[in-house]
Amino acid sequence: MRTRPLKVALLGCGVVGSEVARIMTTHADDLAARIGAPVELAGVAVRRPDKVRGGVDPALITTDATALVKRGDIDVVVEVIGGIEPARTLITTAFEHGASVVSANKALLAQDGATLYAAAEQHGRDLYFEAAVAGAIPLIRPLRESLAGDKINRVMGIVNGTTNFILDKMDSTGAGYQEALDEATALGYAEADPTADVEGFDAAAKAAILAGIAFHTRVRLDDVSREGMTEVTAADFASARQMGCTIKLLAICERAADGESVTARVHPAMIPLSHPLASVREAYNAVFVEAEAAGRLMFYGPGAGGSPTASAVLGDVVAVCRNRLNEATGPGESAYTQLPVSPMGDVVTRYHISLDVADKPGVLAQVATVFAEHGVSIDTVRQQGKDGEASLVVVTHRAPDAALSGTVEALRKLDTVRGVASIMRVEGE
Ligand code: NDP
Ligand code: HSE
Repeated sequence: MRTRPLKVALLGCGVVGSEVARIMTTHADDLAARIGAPVELAGVAVRRPDKVRGGVDPALITTDATALVKRGDIDVVVEVIGGIEPARTLITTAFEHGASVVSANKALLAQDGATLYAAAEQHGRDLYFEAAVAGAIPLIRPLRESLAGDKINRVMGIVNGTTNFILDKMDSTGAGYQEALDEATALGYAEADPTADVEGFDAAAKAAILAGIAFHTRVRLDDVSREGMTEVTAADFASARQMGCTIKLLAICERAADGESVTARVHPAMIPLSHPLASVREAYNAVFVEAEAAGRLMFYGPGAGGSPTASAVLGDVVAVCRNRLNEATGPGESAYTQLPVSPMGDVVTRYHISLDVADKPGVLAQVATVFAEHGVSIDTVRQQGKDGEASLVVVTHRAPDAALSGTVEALRKLDTVRGVASIMRVEGE
């Protein structure tokens, strides 16, 4: 074994970074044996130097992250600060000064992954980011390496722990949205600004990363159609239960049937209770990958939290250190297919629509006509009368999202439709 240590600079020592530092220290001997050389924590950049950080040598703490990445003797920079800047500049500076980079920063990778990949390639270094999608679950490496010989057609799953935790609590305990969000934040699952979680930006960033790797094309955050889960109500859960379903925030990336384009979307959806994703509880994540030769694969595990995420970061640190010792690099960006990303309107899906309507003759026929005019076929209709009004629940067959949303807009304009109580896509059947 080489005795000269490989030097690791840690940028950020919060929920994830503090666990990375702890595991690096407590498992130092095992890590050294697996890598073939000791790894040394050479510096830890933070914002607040006076904060007590148990287990981290205070002499390693600095507020000058730029100086740390410019030292020239750093082999691996672990970026767990988050956000776009200064993270992007620190990463590109790290490459310029000879380091490889391990990052958990899905927001940055989804917004400007191309710049990071290009900098890594230019300087002959690694960019690894297993922790950026689905916490502890090995998913990026299986997609980039194990499935590199296959053709992936679909990736669908729960990729945000915070929102799954909230939806699970709302469904199973009747907890309120804010109460469940506060608990997820206290457990270290939420982003620094939890809007990123609940409005679907975090899941959309992960969808962009997954779609890019799965389909060998470039997909950015802006390409992903995004709806958060803040509008999901107890009434939606009640409707879902009546259909034998629950509600999950899903990320779905698909290759079009003709293979000429891809789509990527994040939105809440009803899924049958019998579907494996329905039983994904708390902050767990699960992702289905459909590949031409391999068939259907499912990846499941803790999707957020300091320790699970640190596990993924440390796996990357080991891989990157091994590459350094072998003077090799792992896979870079693969975007050769250059497929266009189609808009949400082209996605084929199903809607569950709950309408408040006047309870009088001809209303059902009027509603059915609107569906027919938009080329949308109805699967089931359920009507329940209440005091001269009725609740009408329609579940459609599969149709383009543009036709389904057009149907809803036309329904809103009918005099006999008092209101659209809930609209939810139905997936997983
Ligand atoms: P935290 O907010 O807990 O930690 C951020 C750390 O970065 C803190 O130590 C903070 O310093 C430090 N920091 C912030 N700004 C600077 C700066 N300008 N210079 C130096 N240090 C700075 O975030 P998390 O640990 O939760 O998340 C880190 C990254 O990991 C994010 O990209 C996140 O999306 C990702 N991630 C998080 C997961 C989770 O479950 N939490 C799961 C998967 C990925 P200080 O301590 O002084 O405030
Ligand atoms: N906030 C993220 C989540 C962290 O809840 O999934 C893991 O990426």
